[in-house]
Amino acid sequence: VRLRPVRLADARSWSHGRISDQQHLEPWEPGPGSGWAERHKAQHWFSLWRQLRAQTKKGAVYPLVIEVERAYAGQLTIGGVQRGALQSAWIGYWVASRVCGGGVATAAAALAVDWCFQSLKLHRIEATARTENLASKAVLDSIGFREEGLIKDYLVVQGTWRDHLLFGLTAPEAKGGVVNRLVREGKILGAAPPAGGRTGLL
Ligand SMILES: CC(C)(COP(=O)(O)OP(=O)(O)OC[C@H]1O[C@@H](n2cnc3c(N)ncnc32)[C@H](O)[C@@H]1OP(=O)(O)O)[C@@H](O)C(=O)NCCC(=O)NCCS
Repeated sequence: VRLRPVRLADARSWSHGRISDQQHLEPWEPGPGSGWAERHKAQHWFSLWRQLRAQTKKGAVYPLVIEVERAYAGQLTIGGVQRGALQSAWIGYWVASRVCGGGVATAAAALAVDWCFQSLKLHRIEATARTENLASKAVLDSIGFREEGLIKDYLVVQGTWRDHLLFGLTAPEAKGGVVNRLVREGKILGAAPPAGGRTGLL
């Protein structure tokens, strides 16, 4: 599992991945509950990528592709980066159904969290998940996120305001590295140091 920055050339992978996995993704992701295929046409990637790139230049958002054996397998976004007295961000992710259940999201989130604390020098990372999203809650639990409370009517998902659980993790809680801990616990096989600007390999 590897994380890398999104590219303009990801248009077809993004579009195909999102459209072919509509049933797997739509119940959990913000959106109006209609027009999924239209919103994920490859031609929309360019404007999305351009907006994301502008946010990345400001240091506010880091949109990453999750690769499994060098193939596009989903995305992970570090967003809402706030500096000053907060030093915080949120993470969100999705993984293609064909590779689900093999620890991909856990590995990707571990890499991202370590990168946030060790390279971006953030102090706190948040994540939210619908109460019914057992897989995502299990991922956050493995990473070490604490459940902090219920946010009522937090996000529109499939056209309806949905309650979400809020999870938090601070840098001192992840001291020593999440990847290292997961390797020690046998949840992850191993880790190679980041190379060539990549965020890491597992
Ligand atoms: C959530 C998601 C990212 C998980 O990806 P993944 O690569 O399968 O995740 P992992 O294999 O690393 O871990 C999945 C965990 O969920 C658990 N799990 C999966 N389905 C479950 C279920 N129905 N009930 C309980 N636990 C479940 C697995 O056992 C595993 O936990 P473990 O490591 O403690 O055994 C993926 O299912 C997805 O993209 N879902 C749709 C989009 C989404 O929900 N995004 C997150 C929004 S908050």
